[in-house]
Amino acid sequence: MYNQIVQACTIIQARTSIVPRVGLILGSGLAALADELAEAVVVPYADLPGFHEPQVAGHRGELAIGLLAGQPVAVLRGRFHFYEGYSMQEVTLPVRVLHALGCTTLLVTNAAGGLHAAWQVGDIMVIRDHIFLPGLAGHHPLLGPNDERLGPRFPPMVGAYTPALIALAHTTAAALGITLREGVYLMVSGPSFESGAELHAFRMWGADAVGMSTAPEVVVASHSAMQVLGFSLITNLALPDGPPANHEEVLAAGEAAKPRFAALVRGVVADSR
Ligand code: HPA
Repeated sequence: MYNQIVQACTIIQARTSIVPRVGLILGSGLAALADELAEAVVVPYADLPGFHEPQVAGHRGELAIGLLAGQPVAVLRGRFHFYEGYSMQEVTLPVRVLHALGCTTLLVTNAAGGLHAAWQVGDIMVIRDHIFLPGLAGHHPLLGPNDERLGPRFPPMVGAYTPALIALAHTTAAALGITLREGVYLMVSGPSFESGAELHAFRMWGADAVGMSTAPEVVVASHSAMQVLGFSLITNLALPDGPPANHEEVLAAGEAAKPRFAALVRGVVADSR
C-alpha cells in the first residue's frame, strides 16, 4: 500500500505545484463544488494506482486540486463504498493519498438517514462522533500488519472529530443563517436500508443519523493524525415506522440542499487554519 500511495502522489504532484492543506471527500450531490476551484488541476482516478471508477449514479471519479475560498485544497469527487465490494483498504486509500499530498485536515460529507422524527429532509448535521458498525464487526481498514510509516498500531478514536472544527462549523453556519444539527453518525455496510428493529436499536445506542460511508475514511485520517470535520446531509428520515428509504429521494434531497451545503463547506474551508 505504501508504494501505491507514493506512486499516486508522484503522479499528482507532477501536474500541480499546489500543496493542498484541506482534503475534501464530497458525497452525493456536493461533488460540483470542485467545479469552483481556482487554478484547478483534475486527475482522473483512472490515472491513479489503486483508485477505481465509482459505480453509483451521482458520483464521479476524479481528484481536483486547486484553491477553494483562497485555500489550497484537494477534492475527491466520488468515493468508494464498502457495499460496492471494495475492501476497507481500497475504500480508504484516497485518504492516505490526501495526507501524503500534504493535507492536514479532512473534510468529509455524506448523505444519511435522520433517526429523529423531529428532523427534516435537507437538515445538515455536523458529526460529533461515530459508531463504526462494520469496523466493530471486523471490517476495519487498519486490520493486518501495521505500517509504522502511516500511523500507530492502536490509534485512539476518542476526539477523532476535531472539537475546534465542530465549533468552527457552528460559527460559520450561524453567520450564514444555516440551521446546523450536531450528532452521532452510525455507519452500516449497506447496501440494503435498515430494518425497523435495526433503526430502533441504533436510536438506543445514541446514534442520530445512519449512512453507508465516512467512518472508515475518518479512522484512517485519524490514524494519519489529520484533523477531521464531517457533515451529514439528512436526505431522508430513517424511522422504524416511517416510509422505506429509497435512493431517488437521497439524490433529490442532495440536489435541493446543494447551495446551502456548498456555502457551509466553502465558509468552513475559508476560515480553517
Ligand atoms: N440509511 C443508510 N444510508 C443512507 C440513508 C439511510 O436511510 N440515507 C442516505 N444514506
